[in-house]
Amino acid sequence: MSNLIESTEDIKRFYKDKRCLVTGGFGFVGSHVVESLVKAGAEVHVLDIDTDENRDSLINLCGLRDKVHIITADITDKIAMEEIIRQIKCDIIFHFAAAATVVEKAMDLPYLTVLANTMGLVNILEAVRKMNNSIYSVLFSSTDKVYGEASELPYKENATPLKAVGLYDSAKMAADVLAKSYAEVFKVNVVIVRLCNLYGPYDFNIDYRLIPKSMKHIYGEGRAPELYFHSLDHFRDYLYIDDAVRAMLLLAKEKKCFGEIYNMPGCKYASTPGILKEIINRVAEVERKLNGEIGDQITARGIRIKMGDPQHIVIEKQHLCGEKIKDSVGFVPEISFEDGLERTILFYREYFQNQKKSIVVSIQETEGRMQEAV
Ligand SMILES: NC(=O)c1ccc[n+]([C@@H]2O[C@H](COP(=O)([O-])OP(=O)(O)OC[C@H]3O[C@@H](n4cnc5c(N)ncnc54)[C@H](O)[C@@H]3O)[C@@H](O)[C@H]2O)c1
Repeated sequence: MSNLIESTEDIKRFYKDKRCLVTGGFGFVGSHVVESLVKAGAEVHVLDIDTDENRDSLINLCGLRDKVHIITADITDKIAMEEIIRQIKCDIIFHFAAAATVVEKAMDLPYLTVLANTMGLVNILEAVRKMNNSIYSVLFSSTDKVYGEASELPYKENATPLKAVGLYDSAKMAADVLAKSYAEVFKVNVVIVRLCNLYGPYDFNIDYRLIPKSMKHIYGEGRAPELYFHSLDHFRDYLYIDDAVRAMLLLAKEKKCFGEIYNMPGCKYASTPGILKEIINRVAEVERKLNGEIGDQITARGIRIKMGDPQHIVIEKQHLCGEKIKDSVGFVPEISFEDGLERTILFYREYFQNQKKSIVVSIQETEGRMQEAV
């Protein structure tokens, strides 16, 4: 715990008054990074293609809108990105903007996925290069999916060849390789972080990702969470968002990390069915404490098995080695999967309850207006 306090204090000292640009800052990971930077006293510029004030995002829901500078822009627009980065003259860029719903978006919009996930980063690196690298650092959020299916686990940063196959995976892999090239050839201070599956409150990729989607099924629709048949044998790493944010803020500030690649290890490595069972058990426990009878109903409903799309290429086992990030900046996950899951459950419980309440209110309003019209 003392390490955690030390690193948190260190982060606050470093980021105070720093000018930071966070791309994809209305998304899950970006918005949490924005929140931490604001708390540390940084001047934060939040760039996203969708900055609507009605959008579900931590930025809008937690009063952050008035504390940051908002920029509506598309990272695939090279000229706009150069102009923005030149004007802000930021110290640090955190790059999260991407078509990030992995399989679904990439299958529907492959070209756009490559454009956003590969060229989006290149546009940023080009802007930085043209400013003679006057920017302190750029943190690029890569993914464990760049490794692909490996015969040896856990994945290590120097593993070759990278074997990404899916469209999202390959587009990210191209960006990951190009980031390293820009660091080596043009001396851009880029840090490449290969993230595992992050989870926590305010992830609104509710129709795509295992944990938020299960929350939607349980709390939003009152039914059992679903499991794709093809993911019965899948294993993944999971890390709570606060730990991931802390690690990324550490990496972006340390000069020795520039030009390096880091795995972001999980606090838990588990099978997908195992995670779902744990979600159900933990939700049931929370409900037994708060609401009596529903807990048993949730356990009794169990899991629904669903056939997936056979066209989707999905890696069976992904597992990251966390030695390098531990040696380099002393990062180890501090929040257990169980604690993180409970915080996540409590968030979605309230979120879906409020959503139901607002649906009821809007139905009542419509009914009222209809009666008045009659
Ligand atoms: N969440 C995870 O578990 C995870 C794991 C591995 C890697 N990553 C990477 O981390 C980053 C953030 O992921 P996330 O979970 O926050 O995803 P997210 O979908 O919640 O956020 C992505 C954000 O990027 C914005 N965006 C998309 N296209 C854009 C464009 N062309 N121009 C500007 N903004 C655009 C979206 O509006 C969204 O706000 C992504 O690059 C993703 O590939 C995330």
